[in-house]
Amino acid sequence: MDIFPPSNTSTAFLILRGVVSGVTGCPIGTLDGLGETSPSLMQPSYIKDKYPSGKFSVKLGKKCGSACALTIPVDKLGREKLLDAIERAANRVIDANIPVQTFLFTKDELIDKYGHICFNQYELKDLKYSKKSLLISKGKKITVAYIKNTILAVSPVPVFASTGMIEKIVIEKRPDESLSKILSGKKARKCEIVIKFRVFDKLMNEDNVLKESVPEDNENAPDLSMLEPLLSKKVRMEKGTIFPMIIDDSKHYTDSVSTIIHHTSELTLDRKSGACTNDKTRITNNIDHVEEAIVNAFEVVGKVDYKNLVENFGSKLIDAELLSRFEALTVGRGTVPYLHRFLRRGLFFSHRDLHKICDCLELKKPLYLYTGRGPSSSAMHLGHLVPFLFTLWLQQALQCPVVIQMTDDEKFLFKGIYSDEKGDNLNNFAELTVENVRDIIACGFDPDKTFIFSDLNYVGTMYPNVVRIWKAVTAATVNNVFGFDGTSNIGKVAFPAIQAAPSFPSSFPTVLNADLTSNMACLIPCAIDQDPYFRITRDIAHKLTPKSHPLRGKPALIFSKFFPPLKGSDGKMSSSDETSAIFLTDTPEMIEQKIREHAFSGGKETSKLQRELGADLDVDVSFQWLRFFLEDDKELKCIENDYRTGTGFYWSTGSVKKKLINILVEFITEHKKRRENVTDDIIQKWMKERCLV
Ligand code: TYM
Repeated sequence: MDIFPPSNTSTAFLILRGVVSGVTGCPIGTLDGLGETSPSLMQPSYIKDKYPSGKFSVKLGKKCGSACALTIPVDKLGREKLLDAIERAANRVIDANIPVQTFLFTKDELIDKYGHICFNQYELKDLKYSKKSLLISKGKKITVAYIKNTILAVSPVPVFASTGMIEKIVIEKRPDESLSKILSGKKARKCEIVIKFRVFDKLMNEDNVLKESVPEDNENAPDLSMLEPLLSKKVRMEKGTIFPMIIDDSKHYTDSVSTIIHHTSELTLDRKSGACTNDKTRITNNIDHVEEAIVNAFEVVGKVDYKNLVENFGSKLIDAELLSRFEALTVGRGTVPYLHRFLRRGLFFSHRDLHKICDCLELKKPLYLYTGRGPSSSAMHLGHLVPFLFTLWLQQALQCPVVIQMTDDEKFLFKGIYSDEKGDNLNNFAELTVENVRDIIACGFDPDKTFIFSDLNYVGTMYPNVVRIWKAVTAATVNNVFGFDGTSNIGKVAFPAIQAAPSFPSSFPTVLNADLTSNMACLIPCAIDQDPYFRITRDIAHKLTPKSHPLRGKPALIFSKFFPPLKGSDGKMSSSDETSAIFLTDTPEMIEQKIREHAFSGGKETSKLQRELGADLDVDVSFQWLRFFLEDDKELKCIENDYRTGTGFYWSTGSVKKKLINILVEFITEHKKRRENVTDDIIQKWMKERCLV
């Protein structure tokens, strides 16, 4: 392969070297001289791969004696987040279209100007230990490229005249080889990250050419003092700092060049814990660090701190005052006997504008409920049922219409497959919809007040509103909220409008007898992972509703915590792990076996210890599940006291598991009986567009 990559790849490489420094907080080099500049970002460096793709590695971690010495993530997710942050910063440098200046120096001139920082010991001594040294040996002039506030580095020639001549850089997020080696227990330097990238050119600039940087007079080269921010550790993270994972950082950055990549300076260092914080949801991923959680529309990983999550998402906790007001407006109507256990126990814990829904109820203004399901498996699991059981209670309490969206389109866009021989599996998701609808109907909704629809069938009716939402929301917003990049299919980027549309009554001209003048309020019960969709929806809601709407068109939301997986109380139950979930189609034997074998126990290792110390209920899955499914508060309290103290009837894990098995076997057996009675004809009736008001 040609030793010199084309200008697009060299320019991308240059940008990336600077950005790695900016994102991780590593200086691009230090003034201390030889042996200290292990990140080597300024030194001659090669990229491998087939251009316009490239691959290079950077040593960053503390074990490399690197100047920044930060701790970088070794888990897959942490690496992906790191690479994502680097990619986004690189594309900000591109968007800022910063001139790339180049200068030609002899080696002596370069040392005169910058000291030793552009060379490692081999290069200084002209040792041809690798291809790298070829660049500067043989008496050639050395090209140094400079992107203001980003990087100064020896660069293979040529490079573009400005960063904006690149359309974008995409980094491969799959775990790199060094990570696979670490994870498989083989030796590898934990501190190294491998960056594989692809670069896309702008086809042409205004003059119809992509200009290369023409070397300037060396007088114009930046002085060492001007490089201070790039070499200084002051504005960057300190030794041992945990790498901050910033989920949503792009809003921080303006196009002021100095803030484009040096966003680490916007983080405040907590000197006690050594961790960086900012005002957004932050995740730390690190070998030594335990507090990790990701919550978004696609995944829930780790121990979720709900209080933090609410602060970061910007929703509100349901406080005692709001709860008693809501109780008066639901139980007080006499249609339900008491508050749902999910509310009594704080399992539905957070909301947006629930007090405005209370206002509507007090003033007897019309309201409907909206919830949904993405049919990814033929059987739903207990976690999926949580929002439906709660929506059912709300329907009984408020006697109002419910619309239920089945996002078969979403699941195809995210999980669908295509092969040349068999084509795609879109129809498969339409079939899963039918099976899931069977479960939803079996929950017991009111057939005269419930409309269930598959996007594939119904989207035409909602289409005018979908188009309005597309017009109102930018791709940048969706990318930012959901973390998509240019590699996502366009359906994924377009989909949030489809989930947003049912929040507006005018999406149901027949079902809710509504048009754009409708003032009907919408309340959405769901787990908090769906909030990103509705943050976007609420921002543009005024464009689809009349000024007189009681919530200015915004849907209100009521959020639940996650029903935990069997194997541990972190994260959420997922269909993809059979032994971590209990499905609504499981037999009593399967339920018993799964709980006995897999339910994570907070009990102690021996009976003696359990009797002495009791169980840790926060991590005990059986107890957590009882909070969701055991109706009787007194009995739950008794189990809690016994198990926590290792005394009484429920002193042991075995007794608590047995109780849970009994409850779930009864619940699922009843559910299955109702499910069996849901024929295809019945499903068709529920999914038929008809007036519910
Ligand atoms: P889906 O199918 O992933 O989940 C369906 C509903 O179940 C909630 N959920 C859980 N709740 C508690 N514990 C769990 N372990 C758990 N897992 C899932 C979800 O929050 C959701 O409410 N895109 C959506 C479908 C959708 C939707 C909506 C959901 C379309 N419109 C309106 C809620 C409201 C999805 O794929 O959900």
